[in-house]
Amino acid sequence: RTDATTDYYEIVQRAADLEILPGARTTAWTYGGTFPGPTITSRSGRRTVVRHRNELPRPVVVHLHGGHTPHDSDGYPGDEILPPGGRPTMAMGGHAMPGNPVMGHRDYTFPMDQRAATLWYHDHRMGFTGASVWRGLAGFHLVHDDEEERLPLPRGDRDIPLMIADRSFEADGAFRYPSIDRTLATVPGVHAAHMNGVLGDVILVNGVPWPVHPVQRLRYRLRLLNASNARNYRLALDPPPPGGQGMVQIGSDGGLLERPIAHEGIDAAPAERFDVVVDFARYRPGTRVRLVNLLGSGRTREVMAFDVSSSAKAPREDATVPARLSRIPRLDPAKAAVTRTFLLQKRGSSWQINGRDYEPGRPLARPKLGQLELWRFVTDLHHPIHLHLDHFQVVGRGTRGLGPSDHGWKDTMDLRPAEAAEVAVRFTDYPGSFVFHCHNLEHEDMAMMADFTTE
Ligand code: C2O
Ligand code: CU
Ligand code: CU
Repeated sequence: RTDATTDYYEIVQRAADLEILPGARTTAWTYGGTFPGPTITSRSGRRTVVRHRNELPRPVVVHLHGGHTPHDSDGYPGDEILPPGGRPTMAMGGHAMPGNPVMGHRDYTFPMDQRAATLWYHDHRMGFTGASVWRGLAGFHLVHDDEEERLPLPRGDRDIPLMIADRSFEADGAFRYPSIDRTLATVPGVHAAHMNGVLGDVILVNGVPWPVHPVQRLRYRLRLLNASNARNYRLALDPPPPGGQGMVQIGSDGGLLERPIAHEGIDAAPAERFDVVVDFARYRPGTRVRLVNLLGSGRTREVMAFDVSSSAKAPREDATVPARLSRIPRLDPAKAAVTRTFLLQKRGSSWQINGRDYEPGRPLARPKLGQLELWRFVTDLHHPIHLHLDHFQVVGRGTRGLGPSDHGWKDTMDLRPAEAAEVAVRFTDYPGSFVFHCHNLEHEDMAMMADFTTE
């Protein structure tokens, strides 16, 4: 439904039996009966309202990842949608979470005052995000705008969102996920085994194991999303096209880059998005081009494949990648009014930020809206750190400067061992409580999350 100012969607969250592995039945938790959930599209500057109805047996929370969203629609942990008769999830120590739980359904209102970008929505229930997303609660939400539509990029069926996620399965087809949750958090060994996050041995792309997609000898835009709980990828084309540099990145988490960047491979940590253009005309007719993960081995090295049309006569190409894509105002770290430092570390069976387990309602920062800030993250291990509310710019990684996946507007960046990474961020428009956290979903569930309150 749509009216003069708003586009409306309604999504029923429910269990559904899907055939993910050939001939087997997997009971998934779904947005509207499919995995991934339906792709929502928004127009920049036009409000989108999504009504989520919860018919699952557990509380849910919906978060639009990358959305510039006011507090009450951002999926704050206390803002659960309870199933009929259900009770809110308790914070650690058995306290009620601050927030506004509702019964049955909630309307999420997204002003969409943001540029074109590849966003995604997923469950965000405190302590259970890993399990809920693993069971299927994830979908794309694409934002379009005039700036991007004026560019001659591949579009229509040559603009393909690809949700990459690893899973494992029981012999009967059920999702296999170790029970890590708050109630088991105190059992030694249960946590320890999954301290680094849960990995699967089957790679799904848009819910299909290792799919093969036919392509013409033309340019395609692939919107790569790493929706895995904990797996890192270095995505590459195998074989590379003659001359290499087969993946031309045009966008990152927050939309178009200033200029395209040609990559041999792309490092994608959980929750990161990379929009790339691949020109299959660079391949001989009939080539099978595999998208591989150079960090995987055996079957987890394979992601998907593209079968290039065997017809010798290429169709007429109507897309190009302009040398100039957009303009990105530089956030100057020297002008930051505040510098904050966050230490990400393991302690016992928790992953902590500044020595604390996540505690809703106890913010670690109170940024002023409109003020430029520098956030420094210090860690001894890999953590893909994600900020809600606004996109940021990576300023540096210690002495190493920017990495190849750090360009453009980001909302998630992979912190690497012994690196003090800095991002410049300006929170805008919406006062209230938001979270930032590690997007290794098991780390998030094991408390590596914190509030910040904008004012
Ligand atoms: Cu994609 Cu707070 O998460
Ligand atoms: Cu988010
Ligand atoms: Cu982490």
